Amino acid sequence: MEKECLAGQTAMVTGSSSGIGFAIAVTMAKAGANIVVNYHSDEKGAADAIAQITQAGSKAISVQADIAKEEDVLRLFDEARKHFGTIDILVNNAGIQKDAAFIDMTLDEWRKVIDTNLTGQFLCAREAAKEFITHPAKKNVRSSGNIIFISSVHDIIPWAGHANYTTSKGGETMLMKTMAQELAPKSIRVNSIAPGAIKTDINKEVWSDPAQLKTLMDMIPYQRMGEPDDVAKVAVWLASDDADYITGTTIYVDGGMTLFPSFAHGGLS
Ligand code: BGC
Repeated sequence: MEKECLAGQTAMVTGSSSGIGFAIAVTMAKAGANIVVNYHSDEKGAADAIAQITQAGSKAISVQADIAKEEDVLRLFDEARKHFGTIDILVNNAGIQKDAAFIDMTLDEWRKVIDTNLTGQFLCAREAAKEFITHPAKKNVRSSGNIIFISSVHDIIPWAGHANYTTSKGGETMLMKTMAQELAPKSIRVNSIAPGAIKTDINKEVWSDPAQLKTLMDMIPYQRMGEPDDVAKVAVWLASDDADYITGTTIYVDGGMTLFPSFAHGGLS
């Protein structure tokens, strides 16, 4: 992979004021892309992302927008167009968890997670696809646009106490595949990265407690939590021309979490 493999392109990364989105925004900037940083409420995190992107020699703007709201998404894309003319890469990263036992889950907890993780990703992906279709053939990039969903191992691993989250992630996978099938003739690539346990604020409760961390290790054959950079490097490659023949695929970045780790000890026969 060339160092400047995203040079001349603009990437929008939703939810890039922290965690995985932050790392993707900065790593794509290091690969030469200009970045649209989107944040929901963490203004300081967005400012930190802008500082690191600028330090890497790329341009950036930050736009506050709740991706669950259609008017916010339209404004986000308008701002991106105003500053950079268009975008070439969308990283559909913003996502939330609102955990509850199934019988206690309120309609509000269900809706909030589906609205952000699934409907929000649909809205951003739709606007990006509309944008990409207008792109003239580019000299330096083979596809006319790239969409990367940041999904989760929980698009295939059921997770008690997280019915809203797993449903949103399973739905995201079918959204990604259907879009990939529909948009491939327009030279638009659509893929997912499914992270496992990546050390961010979303699972701080687990990694800051030694007992819970030990239990987590039983679920990760590779025996370490992931870092946001583990995901960011894959995102850069997937958005680059080196991955030009890949569309409709999910790449699991999970240290083996999806390998049924409990069977590593021989199963029951
Ligand atoms: C969740 C994390 C969790 C990981 C592995 C992710 O999708 O957001 O909270 O640690 O899956 O279970």
